[in-house]
Amino acid sequence: MVAIHYFIFLFFFFCRSLVCLAVSSISSLEPLFLNQTLISSSQIFELGFFTPYGSSNRYVGIWYKNLTPTRILWVANRAQPLDNNDQLARLTVGDDGNLRLLEGTQNSIWSTNVSAGSNRSIAMLIDTGNLVLKDSENIIWESFHFPTDTILPGMKIEMNVNTGEKRYLTSWKTDTDPSPGNFTVGVTSEIPPQPFTWNGSAPHWRGGQWDKSKFIGIGDVESTYLSGYNVQQDIQQGTTYFSLLTYSTTFFTYMFISPEGSLKWVFWNESDRKWLPNWEAPWNLCETYGTCGPFSVCNSSFSPICQCLDGFTPKLEDEWKSGNWTGGCTRKKELECQRDPNSGAPSRSGANQTDYFLKLSQMKLPDTANYVTLIDENAWGCQTWCLNNCSCIAYSYVEDIGCLTWFNEIMDIQSFNTTGKDLFLRLAYSERSDNTGSRTKIITVSLATILGGIILSAAIYYITCRGRVSKCESASTVFQQIGKEGNSGVSSELPFFKFKSILDATNNFDIRNKLGQGGFGPVYKVMIFSLPHRWIWKYLFV
Ligand SMILES: *[C@@H]1O[C@H](CO)[C@@H](O)[C@H](O)[C@H]1NC(C)=O
Ligand SMILES: *[C@@H]1O[C@H](CO)[C@@H](O)[C@H](O)[C@H]1NC(C)=O
Ligand SMILES: *[C@@H]1O[C@H](CO)[C@@H](O)[C@H](O)[C@H]1NC(C)=O
Ligand SMILES: *[C@@H]1O[C@H](CO)[C@@H](O)[C@H](O)[C@H]1NC(C)=O
Ligand SMILES: *[C@@H]1O[C@H](CO)[C@@H](O)[C@H](O)[C@H]1NC(C)=O
Ligand SMILES: *[C@@H]1O[C@H](CO)[C@@H](O)[C@H](O)[C@H]1NC(C)=O
Ligand SMILES: *[C@@H]1O[C@H](CO)[C@@H](O)[C@H](O)[C@H]1NC(C)=O
Ligand SMILES: *[C@@H]1O[C@H](CO)[C@@H](O)[C@H](O)[C@H]1NC(C)=O
Ligand SMILES: *[C@@H]1O[C@H](CO)[C@@H](O)[C@H](O)[C@H]1NC(C)=O
Ligand SMILES: *[C@@H]1O[C@H](CO)[C@@H](O)[C@H](O)[C@H]1NC(C)=O
Ligand SMILES: *[C@@H]1O[C@H](CO)[C@@H](O)[C@H](O)[C@H]1NC(C)=O
Repeated sequence: MVAIHYFIFLFFFFCRSLVCLAVSSISSLEPLFLNQTLISSSQIFELGFFTPYGSSNRYVGIWYKNLTPTRILWVANRAQPLDNNDQLARLTVGDDGNLRLLEGTQNSIWSTNVSAGSNRSIAMLIDTGNLVLKDSENIIWESFHFPTDTILPGMKIEMNVNTGEKRYLTSWKTDTDPSPGNFTVGVTSEIPPQPFTWNGSAPHWRGGQWDKSKFIGIGDVESTYLSGYNVQQDIQQGTTYFSLLTYSTTFFTYMFISPEGSLKWVFWNESDRKWLPNWEAPWNLCETYGTCGPFSVCNSSFSPICQCLDGFTPKLEDEWKSGNWTGGCTRKKELECQRDPNSGAPSRSGANQTDYFLKLSQMKLPDTANYVTLIDENAWGCQTWCLNNCSCIAYSYVEDIGCLTWFNEIMDIQSFNTTGKDLFLRLAYSERSDNTGSRTKIITVSLATILGGIILSAAIYYITCRGRVSKCESASTVFQQIGKEGNSGVSSELPFFKFKSILDATNNFDIRNKLGQGGFGPVYKVMIFSLPHRWIWKYLFV
């Protein structure tokens, strides 16, 4: 994780270059000056003044005290910086009991802005990294309720649909500017909840549905501690929150959103005394929300990475071909239930030509799922429910969640290597793969494969034998003939294989008969291997 080691150079900590006094609380009588830091009781966290490298601004922040390189975990005045030349700035408790950041001129540039009873409040840094303001016994304000770009164990990213309260992480603008950047991280209050990062208001990454122990859209990842998070949802209260694993004084970790929109999770390795990356998202284009557009699936090992779902075709052919897949795909054949309002029922022809479901295995399930409570709580009940509502275009029955259905659009899906769920996609009866159309396609492909194989063998044989005539003498004249063709071929600098000559020469493969059986027209487009590294399309005449 490159970003981490840069932090060594990114900040100037006022107290690293001076002898500074560490204090354990801030009050109106004992403000925190530039030459002091506030530390937590077990000396795990530290709060103080820092200046980003090359900046003329100064901020109040919290960081791990002894774990270097140092990353700022929280910033008080991210949008209201102090002037770096102001040597008399201080953090104090004001007459109204609020924690205030004062300039040398006594001007307050930042405050906790809560209604406090008296001027007797005290601010302390807890060993979890939480800065709390106490009014005699009660906590009246805490920094954990106002996160910047980082979540620590014990902190919650929270949504409350009843109160409208939303708690997000918001990225820094740049690595040296803590003011709010483009990216936010949150968890949705839908059922089941999903984690998101947003770029402005547009989704940037989606972690998938919560199955009561993990997010099922985070697949195929290598991580040391990926299970170390939790989600709690209380429908009555309207609350949904995400948190990192429970707090410990011996295991240090945090998760943050970078200015470039990467959600990163790191942990401290004590034997190495290093911050190590644990996990990061999005880590490829397939993970980035909506790369492939609607009704299209992403596979990062495939080229191109986006493929229309079976039964769908690119919506904007030219955009699609040029590698802009965001327009997605569109249905080739209308669903039977859309054509025939007596949906689901056998069609007029008398045959049972109802829509059917195509199984897509190991998928990152689409966004905007609709959770269905079933009477028959099983996969069959889920399928029946979906089939009986023409607007239902896909379903998935997930252990530990239940019946998920989709309307309108299939968005942001990916095929995983090892994880993922079965997604059942509704298609028109006439899209069934046992139709003649698809069979023809398969034959075409396999013929091309066979031909390709022959050409390839010929090519390899040619390379191996050329210049070693004595060793390869016993071989048939096939390859000598090819060699001759090559020298007189179109491409002057390279030997070139012509299909016709191979077919002529390889009677024993009986290729003509095979082609005849296929019932194809007289001209075929096939791939020809040309030495040393080119694939060339040529027409084959039979
Ligand atoms: C609080 O305010 C009272 C009255 O203004 C003052 O006498 C007292 O010193 C203040 N206490 C602190 C802790 O600042
Ligand atoms: C710390 O700074 C404050 C304000 O500038 C000053 O009054 C105080 O003497 C300084 N303390 C030390 C130990 O330098
Ligand atoms: C302080 O809070 C009040 C309401 O609680 C709000 O109207 C006001 O804008 C806040 N002031 C600042 C500086 O955030
Ligand atoms: C975020 O959105 C802006 C436009 O609002 C765009 O210019 C930028 O490239 C996006 N960043 C990423 C990482 O997608
Ligand atoms: C699937 O496996 C291939 C080959 O091991 C790898 O390149 C690719 O990144 C994997 N895909 C995902 C989504 O992890
Ligand atoms: C943030 O958004 C602005 C405008 O939308 C864009 O110009 C800028 O490139 C974005 N920054 C990043 C890091 O995506
Ligand atoms: C921590 O570092 C040690 C020493 O390099 C290594 O052996 C160990 O596997 C690391 N632990 C983790 C959890 O990565
Ligand atoms: C990609 O295509 C969409 C329409 O589907 C269009 O709005 C967008 O501007 C295109 N993006 C680029 C980079 O061409
Ligand atoms: C249609 O389906 C029903 C029950 O699903 C079955 O009884 C009937 O034989 C089927 N008819 C045809 C023509 O396949
Ligand atoms: C299909 O489901 C949607 C969403 O639950 C609902 O609004 C609609 O009325 C249903 N249609 C039928 C025909 O049941
Ligand atoms: C992705 O595409 C590759 C290349 O065709 C294929 O081997 C692999 O099975 C696909 N991966 C998934 C998870 O579908």
